[in-house]
Amino acid sequence: MNILVRDILEEQVRADILILPFFEDYSTDSYSGLDLIVNGIISKVINNRDFSGRHGQNMLLPVNNINASRILLTGLGRRQGLSQEQIRQAGAKAFSAVKEIGVVSDVAVSTTIFDHLPDNVHFTQKPAFYFLEGGLLGIYRFDKYKTTQDNGKLKKDMSSITILDDDKMLPIAWLQALISATYLARDLVNTPSNDMTPTAMANISKSLAGKRVTVTILERRDIEKEKMGAYLSVTKGSNEPPKFIIIEYKGGKGRPLVLIGKSVTFDSGGLDIKPSDGMEKMKYDMAGGAAVLSVLKAISEMKLPVNVIGILPAVENLVGGSASRPGDVVGTITGKTVEIISTDAEGRLTLADAIGFAIKYKKPGAIIDIATLTGACSMAFGNEAIAMMGTDKGLMARLRAASEEAYERAWPMPLFEEYKDYLKSDIADVKNMGGKKGALASSACFLREFAGDTPWVHLDIAGAAWNDKERPYSPKGASGVGVRLLLNFLKES
Ligand code: BES
Ligand code: ZN
Ligand code: ZN
Repeated sequence: MNILVRDILEEQVRADILILPFFEDYSTDSYSGLDLIVNGIISKVINNRDFSGRHGQNMLLPVNNINASRILLTGLGRRQGLSQEQIRQAGAKAFSAVKEIGVVSDVAVSTTIFDHLPDNVHFTQKPAFYFLEGGLLGIYRFDKYKTTQDNGKLKKDMSSITILDDDKMLPIAWLQALISATYLARDLVNTPSNDMTPTAMANISKSLAGKRVTVTILERRDIEKEKMGAYLSVTKGSNEPPKFIIIEYKGGKGRPLVLIGKSVTFDSGGLDIKPSDGMEKMKYDMAGGAAVLSVLKAISEMKLPVNVIGILPAVENLVGGSASRPGDVVGTITGKTVEIISTDAEGRLTLADAIGFAIKYKKPGAIIDIATLTGACSMAFGNEAIAMMGTDKGLMARLRAASEEAYERAWPMPLFEEYKDYLKSDIADVKNMGGKKGALASSACFLREFAGDTPWVHLDIAGAAWNDKERPYSPKGASGVGVRLLLNFLKES
């Protein structure tokens, strides 16, 4: 998709549809010149109260006398207390209305109204940025596996978007990086596990290799050599070979930041098998890895001046004849032993070895892991937030700020010393499950055992990574959460 910024008038732009945003509680004469040209049709629907500018309201008007064929009036809602999220959501409503029409390929967006923000409103980006961000994120669809269209309408893909703005201060390349990385993460997660195997994740990762990017895949024998016994224990019930994926991006100086993404391509629970109800969703247990992969792709394309290493310990958790048993004890790369109480607490087993590997070989300045780790996280937050725990307050504060900007809210949760007791094993150094109570915190506590003194933050995205219902700018299915959060964070680093 081609996004252009052009300093021309609404009546001049050539487009299939021209989007005009309005406030509900504030009228300007911004569009009065245009209104005159289109024979007063805009003022007419407003004066008739057919259109009020209510948040999410859309009204399509066929017009003559200008270069655009139609106008879409769209409501931003109240100007007082305007938030960037409100603008994103309005953008999503407008773009989904455009997509519904089906025959639109060239879209233009007027930004005149955004010159009239209240004085106390300050955003990081210009409002038009958020409008487009919401709009573009919202029109994502995953239809790779559909051989026929859902309805008979003639569909055209949007091919160009023209933003009517008077300066070039809109970072369009950055916007496109955020969008395409989120799309990629959603695609990877929505792809079913029979196609999104550890091998597939490794192959996609390999395609990122280039000037500043090195990709290394550790195979089963390498993993055995490194004594990553906890990670290996998860793969034993599956015929899909494990792939320990390392994506290194060198764009700056200093110690690297290591991003570790949980990459369990399907989580059946293992012998502690999950209930069948909803098990099909466990293809999304690699959403952390998908986010990390997509972030590395985006930062390498944007050439950000940072050093980042992505690690994806990809594996499938099934129930074959060699599967791990509850009660088994396994070693890890750190030398610590783990008693497997639940084969369904497999994510932390893979992450423990990945954290140990990163510390042993990569001298990280800090480690951030992102993982669909616990059902408890989704019970606590629903789809609304990411649970954040860690050992570095400064890093957590920066992640929190980046998460607010992206509206992918990372919410701090406690990591009390006492949780360590939950993980005491009778026969090994630790056990991999601390019981139902306190399950969110004890999962993070388990990881902390392996992070040691390295500054480390854990992001549990079990709730936010998958939408059971459509959300304002994310359809049902994979949300791509974490991608914009991490990209915002890295941009500020
Ligand atoms: N992948 C799951 C966590 C999960 C559950 C993600 C629901 C998304 C939605 C994880 O591997 C798991 O099964 N965790 C167990 C841990 C327990 C056995 C200690 C859980 O949370 O129930
Ligand atoms: Zn599990
Ligand atoms: Zn899992």
